[in-house]
Amino acid sequence: MATISQSSRQSPAGAERQPVPAARARSVLELIGDTPLLEIRKIAAGLLRPGVRVFAKLEGFNPGGSVKDRAAAKMIEIGLARGELKPGKVIIDSTSGNTGIALAMVGAALGYQVELAMAANASRERKQILAAFGAKVNFSDPLEGSDGAMMLCRQMIARAPERYFKPDQYNNEANPLAHFETTGPEIWRQSAGQVTHFVAGIGTGGTVMGTGRYLKSRRPEIRVIAVEPDDPMHGLEGLKHMASSIVPGIYHEEELDDKLPVSTEDAYEMVYALGQIEGLLVGQSSGAAMVAALRVARQLKQGFVVTLFPDFGDRYLSTNLWVGWQRWRREDFARRLDKWTGRANATT
Ligand SMILES: Cc1ncc(COP(=O)(O)O)c(C=O)c1O
Repeated sequence: MATISQSSRQSPAGAERQPVPAARARSVLELIGDTPLLEIRKIAAGLLRPGVRVFAKLEGFNPGGSVKDRAAAKMIEIGLARGELKPGKVIIDSTSGNTGIALAMVGAALGYQVELAMAANASRERKQILAAFGAKVNFSDPLEGSDGAMMLCRQMIARAPERYFKPDQYNNEANPLAHFETTGPEIWRQSAGQVTHFVAGIGTGGTVMGTGRYLKSRRPEIRVIAVEPDDPMHGLEGLKHMASSIVPGIYHEEELDDKLPVSTEDAYEMVYALGQIEGLLVGQSSGAAMVAALRVARQLKQGFVVTLFPDFGDRYLSTNLWVGWQRWRREDFARRLDKWTGRANATT
């Protein structure tokens, strides 16, 4: 029997039948999205009723390494279409890190300069990645968190407003739209329409709003649950504690079914567990999302719970996440997991 390459050599028409690699693309931008959905089985084993499953969408597989590639590409696409971004202009924004990396990547791919305002305590890895994409970074006071970066960005624009295009991820509807158009449909497809709950952290709120809206448009009973740090002085890079922050314009809490607080300590422990038990190294906001997803899943008799892991863990190796982790013990974790995610009265 002829192999595929032999038959295509013999007949030009056969060349069309050659298998094309799934990810053959003309630009790195075409590789954004279509991330895998992984079932988290080992950590959940024994905690959940037989009809309940938990899955995580692995956004670290995006070319810029995070969920933010989706929003950055969409905001720039719409900015170009509206003529707000044109050759010679500089893309500027405030960012806790991943959006900056995504903007820097998209800017480089399209030939635009990128300038960012960022809290000075962002991880060393993130700063180096931004520099490698050719972006220019201005640092704000770490004690002011992401709000400090927003204020610094405003000052930079005020000096030369005509020079900049600001995607403004906190107030740009293209941010949730990216998730409405891609993340939501992907989860619907990957779960074969079985998804019952979507659980995601809030940074700008783009992910939870856009994905949640899409899923509810397919089946209004799907529950959409946000995850936030339980304390204003948290260590969950990428997530916002809403009560003590400037509320993003795109964030509409009334559309959510629930909002669960997660402590920094529990989220960090979950990151260690995901690494050692599932073989999956993720960032701290993924740890928080997983704690909340298990808490939701434990209440259920039946369910298909989907959470989203915004990025992988390698860009946090120099952060507090990995200070003192050697004391972590798998045996203690099992006991504590039972406590944090405690099962109340089960619902459907
Ligand atoms: C690590 C991390 N987790 C979670 C989020 C939250 O995403 P969103 O802004 O879509 O709410 C972000 C966003 O910046 C992030 O960088």
